Amino acid sequence: MSVNADHIVIFDTTLRDGEQSPGCSMNQQEKLRLAQQLDRLGVDVIEAGFPIASDGDFESVKAIASVVRRPVIAGLARACRQDIERAWEALKDASRPRIHVFLATSDIHLQYKLRITRDQCVAQAREAIELAKSLCDDVEFSPEDATRTDLDFLCRVLDAVVEAGATTLNIPDTVGYTVPTEFAELIHTIRRKVKGIEKVTISAHCHNDLGMAVANALAAVSAGARQVECTINGIGERAGNASLEEIVMAMRVRPDKYPYETAIVGEQIFAASQTLSEITGVPVQPNKAITGRNAFAHEAGIHQDGVLKNPLTYEIMTPKSVGVPDSKLVLGKHSGRHALSMRCEQLGYQFDRRVLDDIYRRFVRLADKIKHVEDHHLLELIRDTHKPTRTATPLIEPVIEGTSAAVVNAPPPEPEKRYAAAAQMNPFGAPVPVHPESQHEQTQQEDYLWGV
Ligand code: KIV
Ligand code: ZN
Repeated sequence: MSVNADHIVIFDTTLRDGEQSPGCSMNQQEKLRLAQQLDRLGVDVIEAGFPIASDGDFESVKAIASVVRRPVIAGLARACRQDIERAWEALKDASRPRIHVFLATSDIHLQYKLRITRDQCVAQAREAIELAKSLCDDVEFSPEDATRTDLDFLCRVLDAVVEAGATTLNIPDTVGYTVPTEFAELIHTIRRKVKGIEKVTISAHCHNDLGMAVANALAAVSAGARQVECTINGIGERAGNASLEEIVMAMRVRPDKYPYETAIVGEQIFAASQTLSEITGVPVQPNKAITGRNAFAHEAGIHQDGVLKNPLTYEIMTPKSVGVPDSKLVLGKHSGRHALSMRCEQLGYQFDRRVLDDIYRRFVRLADKIKHVEDHHLLELIRDTHKPTRTATPLIEPVIEGTSAAVVNAPPPEPEKRYAAAAQMNPFGAPVPVHPESQHEQTQQEDYLWGV
């Protein structure tokens, strides 16, 4: 695969490593549906599965290879004939097939898992790549547990597989053990020492056991890796893989630090996350960066007030840029009057200051009890408190009896004591002058003070 210097290849392994997370297995139809969404998302490579693992996985890889034609379709294989031939059988009809061969290289794995010597490891890796290369031009090699492998030995294995024809060298932090500075150093060393490295693409595959998968992947990119392996919602073995959406958006939001491009269509991120979650039945953690339901929700009054004035105050990217329909102002006990009056307006009601104060007091008491105040609660509260004038078509038709009582442009009444006291102090306890002409400003000021 030819890559330009600043283009980062996004290798999605949701269907392979991601599927290895408990509760995330998918059938063939589900895998195909997700693969089609990954195609719309614009990933460069889809690792569709591990064909030797089961007949189901084999059939899924085969189906994806024949239907999804734009991206490279990769299949995983251990470094042995049976696996490689099976992977090729599943992949051979793909428009752009890739065989991904892995073999552990750390002494712990060689000694306890594979029970082979270092010399045997080098020979097995070389033979496996020669075989894969005889079947397919595009061959990736992964030295499993690379970050716990003796550095000189790692370079020796990589020398051998490059010579045998590997086109991508993927460096896995299999157990999520490394840290960004160390991982960057490892990539630099590989670039310095491995013979023929300039002909191949270096890739990073990071697990999240210490919560550093994304930081490690980005560090690898800064050190010269040009492919990252990642998953939607960060699913994967144990604590998961580096999350695709976090890596991509880090590059988009901070091009000053990460001046790289990807082919990802940002507006398809949320759809990919939702599709995965719907298929697996595994919900996205609410505070998950980018795709969690709270990622663009603002509950604290100070935040709601700021976002209503200008989203840039508390949003570093627009919800739209990642396909989230709109940012949500969650009405709870931390909300301020600015957000409350905004929601009332969206429901079709506008209140003068005195009425809003009254509704706000009742709202805070209610929010203390029920956490999130939904629209129907608010409508009930409005009905119980006042008989307002409806100034717009409500989104939800409320049941309100009696005649209208709100006076939109009535002169502001005396603010209640607690607001008045608060409005005269700034957050550090210093007095704040209140502009008598600006009721709007005063409301905003009070939200700032009370809504934190
Ligand atoms: O984590 C890992 O080492 C892997 C390899 C198969 C790339 O998933
Ligand atoms: Zn992995």
